[in-house]
Amino acid sequence: LNYNVARERRYIMEVLFNGLRRLEYRGYDSAGIAIDADLRQGAGYGRVEAERMPPYDSLPPLVFRQEGKIESLVRSVYSDVDAMDLNLEESFPVHAGIAHTRWATHGVPAPRNSHPQSSDAWNEFLVVHNGIITNYEVLKETLVRHGFTFESETDTEVIPKLAKFVFDKAREEGEQTATFSQVVTEVMRQLEGAFALIFKSAHYPNELIACTRGSTLILGVKELTDDKVRGKLFHDVKDLTKDEKPKELFFSSDLCAIVEHTKNYLAIEDNEVVHIKDGCVSILKFDYGREKPASVQRALSVLEMEVEQIKKGNYDHFMQKEIHEQPHSLTTTMRGRLKDNSVVLGGLKEHLKTIRHSRRIIFIGCGTSYNAALAARPLFEELSGIPVTMELASDLQDRQGPIYREDTAVFVSQSGETADTLLALEYAFANGALCVGVTNTVGSTIARKTHCGIHINAGCEIGVASTKAYTSQIVAMAMMALAIGADRISTQARRQSIVDDLSNLPNKVSEVLKLDGEMRDLAESLIDTQSLLVFGRGYNYATALEGALKVKEVALMHSEGMLAGEMKHGPLALVDETLPIIVIATRDACFSKQQSVIQQLHARKGRLIIMCSEGDASSVRPVESCKVIEVPRVADCLQPVINVIPLQLLAYHLTVLRGFDVDQPRNLAKSVTTQ
Ligand code: G6P
Repeated sequence: LNYNVARERRYIMEVLFNGLRRLEYRGYDSAGIAIDADLRQGAGYGRVEAERMPPYDSLPPLVFRQEGKIESLVRSVYSDVDAMDLNLEESFPVHAGIAHTRWATHGVPAPRNSHPQSSDAWNEFLVVHNGIITNYEVLKETLVRHGFTFESETDTEVIPKLAKFVFDKAREEGEQTATFSQVVTEVMRQLEGAFALIFKSAHYPNELIACTRGSTLILGVKELTDDKVRGKLFHDVKDLTKDEKPKELFFSSDLCAIVEHTKNYLAIEDNEVVHIKDGCVSILKFDYGREKPASVQRALSVLEMEVEQIKKGNYDHFMQKEIHEQPHSLTTTMRGRLKDNSVVLGGLKEHLKTIRHSRRIIFIGCGTSYNAALAARPLFEELSGIPVTMELASDLQDRQGPIYREDTAVFVSQSGETADTLLALEYAFANGALCVGVTNTVGSTIARKTHCGIHINAGCEIGVASTKAYTSQIVAMAMMALAIGADRISTQARRQSIVDDLSNLPNKVSEVLKLDGEMRDLAESLIDTQSLLVFGRGYNYATALEGALKVKEVALMHSEGMLAGEMKHGPLALVDETLPIIVIATRDACFSKQQSVIQQLHARKGRLIIMCSEGDASSVRPVESCKVIEVPRVADCLQPVINVIPLQLLAYHLTVLRGFDVDQPRNLAKSVTTQ
């Protein structure tokens, strides 16, 4: 929303499109945008005839929605705008636009199911939504009884319709027209589920309202005054309550979409309704106990993120950039935390004692984050002496597995927004466990709702397949294990050697990245295979799962990671001369067991690719022709960080060679904010 600064329609559209491009990694099956247009100017608006004017006296919002990626929306909007003879140079001193990119939950990807969802043909109320409305069926039935007809299969459509219902009812009852925030708070009162919502309405032109319950929502504030004060930051929302200065205000579910405009932001909290009107921002906090929401003041924060983080730079793809950036991301994960041969984790300091006294540590996560926790588990058990169990967040929910007050539950999530992990967090919280977050996203829901935690500081990760976050998660959790075990004299020497290797880890990662060309050649040799197996054990069981997950996710090739110890109990039946099998046999306590796994596979004519420590090629290779990947050696518990990198590179090259979309693989989303 721009205020007191002239912005042309083209500029407004481009700001919205660019915002969507930044968010596209979160979902990309359809998209939409709503902007204003003055139909009364008449000239060639095609779709609307002069006599069919809206039943209100303001600019009717125009809505464009399109199936597919953002660029297909961009193309179709420009061609529609052209057909409607809409002037792209028309200038607006104030304008409120909204846009959305979708990952389908309710309803197939189609224009009718895309957002903004609308209340009626005249778009009296428009809503974009992230999350899920769990009571939408009940609301829909009620609205249908009141004469509303629904066009989409989405849960979202009930929201704008409910807003219109509330608005019309207030008018019929002869009350003064309800204010925009009265309408939205009433709507919010009736919604159940998790949501971040932005409302635009023809009845309240040049205003926007955003509200959230359980989903992240950010307000960005960019001040546009003369050069002398440009860049001066607002510090508090109250600076924005009576402010006439020209500015641009942004709502977004992700900081990535606003960082190129401003670093001055506010993380909107649960049950807050943020209203922008006449360039001013007001916040109402919803309190269920109270009749009326109360007005609140909040301080703005300054974002510590550089715009380069969200650009590809010289790389072809974000996944490629993020793989190669790992020496740097690991350095920032450890920055300021390794001190005097020990580990200092500010976010955990006050809770270490409680963790040390817990009866059990439970790691909870999904996808790659789960694998990272699995990789850290052996070190946790070793250094803390506390039993560590693993839970996939959805499975914990399905089983309602027992969690107690004496447990420490560690929630691992790159985005900090994954719905399954979040629900598991609410469940563990309700059961009295100490809840610890390990996330990459400052201000995310999981970061806010846990008792304490660590930010992994890997920097913005955009490729859907997680790479640098995975290695930073392992390192962050290794540091956590070191901090928990810091009071044990018996493990002091071991801890010291791990800290030494942590300091040197970024250099070793730079070394292993030199395998890029070799991995490309390997990918070329595997390009037509149907399937790939990865065997690992001990510290590298997680590496096998994660390597296979990467190949599955982006190269769209069937791939399974397996515990080598289970090979004899089924997987061996699959082995033949054609099925490629990667065996991870780097040096650690399991090395000799992996050597015999290699022998057994070779005896069955398996097509082997062996990953081993530098200098070990001849001792692992059963025949000279066997493909070997040699990787630098680090402390056994950190070896998963090194070993996963050739597999990330392999998945990347396989995807490029097979001609698939690297950063936005079919059907996936980076942040799965619905169950
Ligand atoms: C999705 C993503 C994965 C990610 C998983 C967990 O499935 O595609 O890359 O590992 O969610 O996400 P989180 O943000 O909780 O780590």
